[in-house]
Amino acid sequence: MSFYVTTPIYYGNGDPHLGHAYSTMAADILARHMRQRGEDVFFLTGTDEHGEPIAQAAEKQGITPQQLVDRSAERFRDMGRKLGATNDFFIRTTDPQHEDEVQRLIARMHERGDIYKGTYGGWYCTSCEAFYVESELDEGRNCPIHRRPVEWIEEDNWFFRLSAFRDRLLAHYDAHPGFVRPQARGNEARRMIELGLEDLSLSRAQVEWGVPVPWDPDQTIYVWIDALFNYWTALQYARPGEDLVARLWPPSVQLMAKDILKFHAVIWPALLMSAGLELPERLFIHGYVLKGGERLSKTTGNVVDPFPYIERYGLDALRYYLAREIRFGEDGTFTDETFAQRYASELANDLGNLLSRTVRMVERYRDGVVPADPGDDAELAAEVAGRVDAVREAFDRLDLTGALEAAWGLVRRLNQLVEQRKPWELAKDPANDRGLDQTLASLAEGLRAVAILVWPYIPGSAEKVLGAIGQPPDGVGLDRAAWGAGVPDARVAPVPPLFPRVEVAAT
Ligand code: MSP
Repeated sequence: MSFYVTTPIYYGNGDPHLGHAYSTMAADILARHMRQRGEDVFFLTGTDEHGEPIAQAAEKQGITPQQLVDRSAERFRDMGRKLGATNDFFIRTTDPQHEDEVQRLIARMHERGDIYKGTYGGWYCTSCEAFYVESELDEGRNCPIHRRPVEWIEEDNWFFRLSAFRDRLLAHYDAHPGFVRPQARGNEARRMIELGLEDLSLSRAQVEWGVPVPWDPDQTIYVWIDALFNYWTALQYARPGEDLVARLWPPSVQLMAKDILKFHAVIWPALLMSAGLELPERLFIHGYVLKGGERLSKTTGNVVDPFPYIERYGLDALRYYLAREIRFGEDGTFTDETFAQRYASELANDLGNLLSRTVRMVERYRDGVVPADPGDDAELAAEVAGRVDAVREAFDRLDLTGALEAAWGLVRRLNQLVEQRKPWELAKDPANDRGLDQTLASLAEGLRAVAILVWPYIPGSAEKVLGAIGQPPDGVGLDRAAWGAGVPDARVAPVPPLFPRVEVAAT
C-alpha cells in the first residue's frame, strides 16, 4: 500500500520557526511509522516561492526574488535536516518542472470551461495573499489572521468558477465523512461551502513574480493556485523516469494548521475536480503551537527558534516534547518549564534510567548476556501486544499524541516491574535464579518493544536503546515489536546516559 503524506509548502520569504518545524515533524513521525509498517511511503515538503510579498521582501533587501527564495529554500531544507525529517523530496515552486505542470493544469481547467475573464474588486491582505469579504474583516477592516489593514484592489483578471463546484463539494463531503479531520474542522469547511462560494480570481495583472497564464502571459497565476498544485506537480519530476502518480496519487494525508483550511478543504478539492484529478483521502488540521497565548507567527513577531532547544536538549527531546505536550489536533502551549520537566521526568528518568538500570543489572548479574526468556511473563507479553495494537490504532486516527502515550505506558509498566520484582533482592539468593532471569529477560524484551514503538518520535535514542541491549539498531519494523522477536543471546553494550542532565535553563 502506498502512503503519500505532505506538509504545507512554507513561504519563501521568512525564516523557519517552531510552527513550521511542528508540521514537518508531525509528517515525519507519521511517515516513519508507516514505513515501520512496510508501507510504500512518500513524504513531501518544500517552499512556496512566488507572489507579491516575496517580490517586495526581495526589493527591500536589495536582492532579486530568486536570490531571496534560494536563500530561504536552503534555510527550510536545513530545518528539515536538523529535525531529522525523512522527506523523500523537497519541492520549490520555482522549479521549472513545477511551473510547466501548473501551466498545463490551468490550461486544462480553461479548456473545460472553468476559467473565464472578469473584473475583480475586493479587500486583499498582502500577507495572506488572499481576498476577504467585508464580513470576514473586523471593524478596523483588518485581516482576521494578521490583524493588519487590507487594501481594496480592482483589476481585470481570470476567474475560476468555484461557485459551480458547490454541490459537487458537498456531495464529496457527504460521501467521505473522514475527508477533513478533526471533525470540527470538517464541519467548519462544510459550512463555508454551504454558505455559498464566490468565484475565485485566479490571476494577477500586477504581480510579475509568478507563473504566467499560458494563454495570457501579461497575467501571472495567483500564487495560491500555483502553490496548491505542488502536491501534484512534485510527483511529475521527483523521480525522473518513474511514474509516481500511478504509485502514489492521491495523497493519503495532507497536514496543515487551520490558517489554511479554506484553501485546502474548499479550493483545493475544487481545483482537482476541475483538473480531473482524484481528491486527497484525508486532510488533517493540527493545532497551533502557542506561546504566551498567541500562535507563533512571523507577522505577530511571536516566534520561537527550534534550534537552540535542539542544541541544548538534543533533537529527540524536541520531537518528543512537541508530540507529547501539544495534543495533536488541538492548540497547545510551548513553555520552557514544561519542556524541562518532561525532559527530566519522562525522557531522562522514565526511559533513560530504565535503560541504564537494565543494562547495569544484566552486566552485574548475568555477565552482560541477556538471559533467554523462560516464558513466565505471559501478562507482560500480552501487554506489549496490546500496546502495539493501540499504537497502530492511534496512528490510524492520526492521534500522534495518543500513540506516544500508549507506547509510554509500556515504559511505565517496565519501571513498575523493576520496583515490584526488585532484581537486586532476587540476586541475593540463587534459588531465585529463574525469577531473576525472567525479570531481566522481560526488561530487555520490553525495552526492545518500547524502542520500536517510540522510534518514529525519537529515532536516534530508540536506536541507541536497541544497541545498548544488543539488538540491531535497524530492526525497527513494527512486526518486530512482537514479544520474542529479538535476537537471542544478546550482549548488552553500556552507553552514556540517553538524556543527560541539562544544567542551564532554556531561554
Ligand atoms: N505557503 C502557504 C502554504 C501553501 S500550501 C499549498 C503557507 N505558508 S506558511 O509558511 O505560512 O506555513 C503555514 C503552515 O505552517 C501552517 O498551516 C502550519 O502547517 C505551519 N505553522 C505555522 N505556524 C504554526 C504554528 N504556530 N503552529 C502550528 N503550525 C504552524 O501558509
